[in-house]
Parts: sequence; structure tokens; C-alpha cells
Amino acid sequence: MGSVLMTGDLHGNTDHAVRLVGIAVRQECERMFVLGDFGAWEHTPDGRRYFDVVNRVARKRRVHVYFLDGNHDKTSLIHELYDEKADDDGFLVCRSNIRYAPRGHRWVWGETRFAAFGGAYSVDKPWRLAKEAQVERNAARRRRFGSSRHPVTAGKLWFPEEQMPDEEFDAALAADPTPVDVLLAHDKPRDSTPDWNRKNLPECLPNQDRVQRAVNTLRPGLMLHGHLHYRYTDTIRCGADRWTRVEGLGADPEASHPRDYAPDQSWLVLRLPYRRTLADREQPALVS
Ligand SMILES: [Fe+2]
Ligand SMILES: [Fe+2]
Repeated sequence: MGSVLMTGDLHGNTDHAVRLVGIAVRQECERMFVLGDFGAWEHTPDGRRYFDVVNRVARKRRVHVYFLDGNHDKTSLIHELYDEKADDDGFLVCRSNIRYAPRGHRWVWGETRFAAFGGAYSVDKPWRLAKEAQVERNAARRRRFGSSRHPVTAGKLWFPEEQMPDEEFDAALAADPTPVDVLLAHDKPRDSTPDWNRKNLPECLPNQDRVQRAVNTLRPGLMLHGHLHYRYTDTIRCGADRWTRVEGLGADPEASHPRDYAPDQSWLVLRLPYRRTLADREQPALVS
């Protein structure tokens, strides 16, 4: 088991996804893992096309693409479509070369123990709900005039399942609280302190607390996340005498606002097996 190309949010950006598959090949990674906001919008024709194109390219380049869900993925539909199609590692097979890691999923690659927890709060929830309501008002008007081409639009821009309820999250953690080497999430843990963060409203904090509970319980040496659309590295405590290195990854260019953004801030190579070093705060650079 060689290496995994870890990537930040794609938001259904086909060009960026295809570019990253190429980087995975050049970096000799047979796997690529997207840390949420993948662009799982199969309730739309464009969303289905995105899956098809990314899958076609990944299959041709012999890369397997994995993702966990962000707040902008329609998680309920992923389960509706693919719950019956799990592979031997418990990932849901969306296409031959695209697989989904459900919330709380655990697995082992190259002797490295992983866990994944998707979900986050959408800071643009009010805008998304207002837009959905406006589109629905227009669709309802057209339906009154006899058109059947305008179905109900609720749940198309904002997804009520964007965060795990506390009980569900804690039950998933309690089901197997044994440590992991690498924790993957969409959201940041509460204790990390990036120097640029536009997702720090009070409403964001409950999910950051959930991720922090996962860090404290699973005590990973390394934790990677997306969602902030910002590349940073931090080290946080996961116990009295243990530390977790946190790597926040940047997003696709269209969703990236920091002035010093560059596309290579959206990925890093994780060489396997990953081993916690004696001093977690002084681990060698993971990026190559
Ligand atoms: Fe995002
Ligand atoms: Fe997000």
C-alpha cells in the first residue's frame, strides 16, 4: 500500500478534480481521498455528469477516488442510492472508481488505521434557503399553469442532514473508541487555530466540538480536514501527554478566497504506513 493523495473541497469542480487525478498519478498515489464538499449532487443532471466524468478519468488513470461528505453534499441521496453497494472495506461504491466513506466509518490501509466523520454547518444556510424558496415559488407558479417540468425544489441547495445530531455522533464514537492513526473530517476540530477562518459563527461551534470529541477519543497522530478552504498546519492536544497534528487543506480555485491561494494548497501526499513519531509536534513534512 503506497500513498494517498489527500485533497480539500472540490465542490463539483470537474477541471480541478481531473487535475488532481493527474497529480495523484504523478505522485504515484493509487488512491485519492476528498475531505468533503465533493460535489455529491446527483439530484441534478450536472451532478450525475460530474460523477461520470471524474469516474471515467479515474478509471483510465487507474486511480480510486474516495470521499467523505461535506455540508454541501446531498448525503441522504448517497445513502439512498448506494447503501446496498458496499465494498469489502465498507465504503459505498458510487461508481467503479468512486467510493464514499459514511460518517463514523473506520478502515485500515497499509497498516494505518483511519476513521472518517463528514458534515459541518453551512454559514450560507440563510442564502441557500431563500434561494430554494424563490425557485420553489417560481416552480409552483408554473405548475399552476399546467407545467409538470418543475418539481418541488426543497433540499436541493441546503441539506438538513448537513450535521450529525450529537446522539448519533457520540453513538458512532462509542461503538468503537479504540485509537486511530489518522482522522479525516470535513470540519475543523474546535481547538485548532488557523489564522484565517470565515466559518467561526456560533452556529459552527457545535460541529467543531463534535470533531474535537473525535480527536480526544480516537487520539490520532494526524488529523486532516477541509471546509475552511484554507491551508494551515497546527498541533493540538488530544490528551494530557499526546498531540495531534492538524492539516487543513485548501479548496478548488473557484471557492478559494485567501489572497495568497495557490492550487497546490488543496492537496498533500500521505505516505503509508503513517506512524506517529515520538514527538508529534515535530513530525517531518508530509507534503512532497
Ligand atoms: Fe466547501
Ligand atoms: Fe464545507
